[in-house]
Amino acid sequence: MPSFRFRESRFGCEMTSQQESGTGLRYFKRFQMQADLLGLPPPPALPEGYAWTAWDDRLLEQHAEVKYHCFRSEIDGVVFPNLSCREGCLRLMREIREKAGFVPGATWLLSHGAEFCGAVQGVSDRYGAGSIQNFGIVPPHRGRGLGSALLLQSLHGFRRAGLQRAVLEVTAQNEGAIRLYRRFGFRFRKTLYKVLDPCQHLQPAGEPDYWML
Ligand SMILES: CC(C)(COP(=O)(O)OP(=O)(O)OC[C@H]1O[C@@H](n2cnc3c(N)ncnc32)[C@H](O)[C@@H]1OP(=O)(O)O)[C@@H](O)C(=O)NCCC(=O)NCCS
Repeated sequence: MPSFRFRESRFGCEMTSQQESGTGLRYFKRFQMQADLLGLPPPPALPEGYAWTAWDDRLLEQHAEVKYHCFRSEIDGVVFPNLSCREGCLRLMREIREKAGFVPGATWLLSHGAEFCGAVQGVSDRYGAGSIQNFGIVPPHRGRGLGSALLLQSLHGFRRAGLQRAVLEVTAQNEGAIRLYRRFGFRFRKTLYKVLDPCQHLQPAGEPDYWML
């Protein structure tokens, strides 16, 4: 039987952020965060040489490629193995595009010259909130305010689609992303645990992989 360590916190009873059990299962602590979209600051002007590219169905592969470069060496590439391989990123992009709630206006690429260097996708969830998906900037372009600009650009897309609230999920270890989200009004709403099962491909499709607290 796996044994887990729990501790009390403002989120209630929690496991440590990443727990490995005797069965090979790993548990990653994630936060769901939420922000009000009323009163958003305008998206800032981009630094020289950068430009926005709005969603177009022909850009699906470019979104997948940027996603791969953003996540392959990051904690989320471990938590979600699809994010650390090209085929997985392509599959995720196709799934996002097929969702009934896909919001093209909240889905953006950021380019620098001829190269794409950032991407985000937007989906409205079943509760009418705009859900930020796979938000990332490729490593050489980080720390210049581009992540902040991209997040705001997507949030304004949700606003234009008539949504009043945005939600996202972030891995607890991703402290830089959490700081960024907090600067734009996101607050913790729920703690979740993502279960990473090395034998996941043997599980039936649709098997829930979250423990919600
Ligand atoms: C999270 C992520 C998108 C942030 O992108 P970014 O472009 O670096 O974001 P910003 O530049 O807006 O902000 C990052 C930091 O640079 C600082 N910064 C912003 N503009 C700056 C500038 N012109 N000069 C120097 N620093 C600057 C910010 O204040 C921030 O500082 P902090 O980390 O101390 O809070 C990026 O790190 C990333 O893609 N990570 C991997 C994917 C990921 O984890 N995505 C989130 C999934 S939930």
